Amino acid sequence: MTRDIFELRLDRSASDLWPMLEALYGSHPDYPRVRKDLLAEMRRAWKARPAELKEQDLRRDLEPDWFQRPDMVGYVFYIDRFAGDLNGVHEKLDYLESLGVTYVHLMPCLKPRPGDSDGGYSVMDYRKVNPAYGSMSDLEHLAGALRARGMSLCVDMVLNHTAKEHAWAKKAAKGDPVYQEYYWMFDDDTLPKQYEETLVEIFPDNAPGSFTWYPKLEKWVWTTFNEHQWDLNWSNPQVFLEIAKIMMFLANKGVDVLRLDAVAFMWKRMGTRCQSEPEVHKILRALRAVTRVVAASALHLEEAIVGPAEMLTYFGRGEHDGREGNLAYHNNLMVQFWSALATRDTRLMTHVLKTHFPEHLTNATYATYIRCHDDIGWAITDEDAAAVFVTGYGHRAFLSDFYEGSFPGSFSRGALFQFNPETGDKRISGTFASLAGLERARDDGDAEGVAHAIERILMGNALIASFGGVPLIYMGDEIAMTNDYRYLGVPEHAHDSRWLHRPKMDWEATLNAREDSPEGRVLAGTRRIYQRRKAVPEIHGGHPTRVIAAPNQAVFAFQRLAPTRNLLCLFNFSEEWQNLSVGWLRERGAEHFMDVLSDGPVAIEHGTLTLPPYGRVWLT
Ligand code: GLC
Ligand code: GLC
Repeated sequence: MTRDIFELRLDRSASDLWPMLEALYGSHPDYPRVRKDLLAEMRRAWKARPAELKEQDLRRDLEPDWFQRPDMVGYVFYIDRFAGDLNGVHEKLDYLESLGVTYVHLMPCLKPRPGDSDGGYSVMDYRKVNPAYGSMSDLEHLAGALRARGMSLCVDMVLNHTAKEHAWAKKAAKGDPVYQEYYWMFDDDTLPKQYEETLVEIFPDNAPGSFTWYPKLEKWVWTTFNEHQWDLNWSNPQVFLEIAKIMMFLANKGVDVLRLDAVAFMWKRMGTRCQSEPEVHKILRALRAVTRVVAASALHLEEAIVGPAEMLTYFGRGEHDGREGNLAYHNNLMVQFWSALATRDTRLMTHVLKTHFPEHLTNATYATYIRCHDDIGWAITDEDAAAVFVTGYGHRAFLSDFYEGSFPGSFSRGALFQFNPETGDKRISGTFASLAGLERARDDGDAEGVAHAIERILMGNALIASFGGVPLIYMGDEIAMTNDYRYLGVPEHAHDSRWLHRPKMDWEATLNAREDSPEGRVLAGTRRIYQRRKAVPEIHGGHPTRVIAAPNQAVFAFQRLAPTRNLLCLFNFSEEWQNLSVGWLRERGAEHFMDVLSDGPVAIEHGTLTLPPYGRVWLT
């Protein structure tokens, strides 16, 4: 080999790195130094990268689609609520393997500020692990154990803000002008007021406004989220350098997927919402380039919970196509699942997923999910709602009422999160099972309601398992855990209804679930769906997904267009039986009428296929 792999990689990614940095920081006086330091840090990180990880880099270079394959199945959990601490996770790996999991997302595990830390998203030291969970070497050890089982590790990296207890923030608070430049600080409220004219509040209930006044410091500080989360100033190239160093450090500990938190907010521009500004994409492309050079096997998962058009930009659109995030949350699929489930009408879902999303993404795929640790925000635009003849405001309000459980006839039980009287936005908290109807039906002694809730949960899993992307199972959903109201008694959590759906894993119920209980049926059904996913090569994330309108409003349909053969996936979003004619199915590519989900032929009677309540099939 005449040239080092590092140099080859640097050549490959140079056009993603330097021109972006030039455009962002070219006129900043510190830029020439930062550029030099960054390159030196990259060389250092490459040198320090363990041989085992370098080998994995090479392996994944040869299999760049590894994360798009049908064997990818993700599981997301809080370390303490799932396994006590990092060492405890080792004992749970057999269980995860039995679910088919190959990707493990540990909810925030870096050292948070003491007290309320927004579930760990207020980090005071990125190079240390939360002492309650263990040490950095425990994390490294777990990464190795996962790797040995063919599982990859995803860890949160909060880019938009640090805790106000972070060493940088503490120096800034002491008056160090160098560190004050790391954050957004203002002497008086003139500029904050101007910015606030167009900003959207994220936590209007408990953290109103986007700025906080610190009398001792005599400054206003930009705090988009909670008061203790200080927004980083990404227009300072030194911030880019610091964060890039941390990302390389974590990748070298064996982290496979860096979940980049709240990325939309990273760039501020007066007169805008300060979300998803063009510079955000330049930063993310440059960061991805750093990782591609130093830790080629590591991926970036970008968390931007926004409307359809905006969401796509996180995969890189236009000049950034294929060069930005490898993975992004498909929150629109999630929102549309819940919307169609409430209305028993898939027209809005079909419209949104068909008109806004391309059939194919370059070098990227979705993280598909039904529930996560956050609330559900109804990211449905007025225009999309109008296309199916409802008003955006009315539909969003309906969904909140429905899932809170107050709408007459609702099957759901949830809680409101952050009511914003200005926009009328009400977000929703609750577990998959409770929102899908299990909690209410059980309390009412309604056996049919329980049966429907189970089928809704399994239909949701069959949807995210086949749509294309890495499906993420959120801890406890596989055993249909219902809302946990105990958070109201925990002072640090009581103000934040998201804790309603962050219960402690119920191992009793998991290990002893009777086969015919809701827990047992959801667990067996979930396992089965992900087993089947692995057996169906057409589900590969690289194959196009074509959403099609079904003749029945209650049925959502898409095709997976693989070179070998096509799949036609159908989902009944209602408790009514749905008939589809063989003619229509044939025109949409169904030939053999084999359902690869149940692994058997479907019954065709009188020229029709009948889908039972919440039925789902993956037809060939
Ligand atoms: C992300 C997290 C969320 C957190 C926020 C602020 O959106 O998912 O839980 O509150 O960032 O860090
Ligand atoms: C908003 C933000 C997202 C954050 C969430 C927390 O949706 O866009 O980043 O995680 O609020 O509730």
